[in-house]
Amino acid sequence: MYIPSDDSFLLSETAEQYNGRSALEIGVGSGIIARVLCEHFNIVVCTDIFFQSLRYCKYTLPKNVKIICCDAASAIHIKFDLIVSNPPYLPYDQENKNNDSAVYGGPSGIETTLHFLKSTVGLLDRNGRILIVLSTLSNQSKLDDLLVEMNLEKKTIKERKIFYETLSVVEIHFK
Ligand SMILES: C[S@@+](CC[C@H](N)C(=O)[O-])C[C@H]1O[C@@H](n2cnc3c(N)ncnc32)[C@H](O)[C@@H]1O
Repeated sequence: MYIPSDDSFLLSETAEQYNGRSALEIGVGSGIIARVLCEHFNIVVCTDIFFQSLRYCKYTLPKNVKIICCDAASAIHIKFDLIVSNPPYLPYDQENKNNDSAVYGGPSGIETTLHFLKSTVGLLDRNGRILIVLSTLSNQSKLDDLLVEMNLEKKTIKERKIFYETLSVVEIHFK
């Protein structure tokens, strides 16, 4: 299970600033961000593909959180005010055959982020917001191309330099 790190803390601090009726988290991990969402939203739904994370969250998160084992948002068909994710974003390590899906996001690091965005955009309320963690270690220009294609725009809400990368949380919404 992914142990909360700088990226998790940056997203949970940002999520504190949002309120609404319903929120979705893709890639819940230990539940550190879902726990914040529970304090600000009436309905909270989380997904992950890693069974141990889901089992841990089942026993540690408030009972009203819905926890679903699925790829991205593939099993979900309702609209949300807020969708959040701290996706795996490191570029694949060519030397390593077992690129852990909790931290490696594809050949240029951004592919899983793009997959999460494509999977969730249809679930976003017209006035809703998506919060996603990005790193300078992944190829962010591919995200910018997808946003143009999907009629979405982004702005940076929080940014933090750590010793080998800059992390940011961007807010994405319909134009
Ligand atoms: C960087 S960790 C973030 C965990 C937690 N949200 C946090 O911030 O500490 C990414 C999470 O995404 C999950 N994940 C990876 N691929 C996924 C997919 N296709 N669908 C759903 N979850 C996925 C991983 O299992 C992992 O728990």
